[in-house]
Amino acid sequence: MLARALSTLFGAILAASAFTEPSTQERLDTASVRDTTALHGPRSGIPSSEAPRYSVNWAGAILHAAAESVWDVAGTFTIPALSTPVGGDTAPDRSARVWVGIDGDTCASASVRLGYDLVRSKNGAVRITPWYHAQPGPIHFFDDSATAVGASVTLAISATSSSDGMVYITDNTRGTLLSAHFATRNRLCRQDAEWVVENVISDGALVPLVNFTAVTFTEASAVVEGEHGPAEVGPGDAQALNMFQTRLLTDVAVGASSVHIAYLS
Ligand SMILES: *[C@@H]1O[C@H](CO)[C@@H](O)[C@H](O)[C@H]1NC(C)=O
Repeated sequence: MLARALSTLFGAILAASAFTEPSTQERLDTASVRDTTALHGPRSGIPSSEAPRYSVNWAGAILHAAAESVWDVAGTFTIPALSTPVGGDTAPDRSARVWVGIDGDTCASASVRLGYDLVRSKNGAVRITPWYHAQPGPIHFFDDSATAVGASVTLAISATSSSDGMVYITDNTRGTLLSAHFATRNRLCRQDAEWVVENVISDGALVPLVNFTAVTFTEASAVVEGEHGPAEVGPGDAQALNMFQTRLLTDVAVGASSVHIAYLS
């Protein structure tokens, strides 16, 4: 995983472990929680048996595995173009968060995520901010705002124990690598891996979601400990999850090595 993340590099290493604490205006709320309990609005046409396939604020794929078996997760995607949804209020800043994670779904004690905040402000300016988040604990924003819409980026998390590891973000278009060591206060369960587009919840309310061109994670993979040692697996057996608020907002397709997440008109 690491070797692949590094092999995509063709330029200089931009910065390692360089963070700044952005102003509140620049940052999204730190909460990264999947809200499945309180689907907003009528779930028209969705039988309750199908409810596990929907989330208020996550769309993507979740791979469930045995406890203490997941070591790595990775995926490559293109930073999507952002716009105000047709008929949507143009006044607020709108955003989406794209990430890969370990234990984001079912582990009560800890999780680690790595991704980008994509924000389109009301004046049309786009801010793209890479971050990682070992929970419980604060989110860390990397001091790098130069990744652009259309850039190919690779996210990779590599646990080296149940309480620490490394995160790597490669901007394949610029040829830059950001990396950091993470440590979790509590033990990771290492039992699920995710590839997700999230509508962030801040102070209990959904932040206005931006219209994004489809996000396709390619070379999506996880390293899972099996009978014969660690093996790389794709998301083929992962559970697809769609975002549903007052309507179905996404169309997710999971392949052997890809997770496609489209915003629905
Ligand atoms: C989202 O943007 C695309 C263009 O990228 C557009 O075709 C589509 O209609 C938009 N959807 C909504 C709901 O605004």
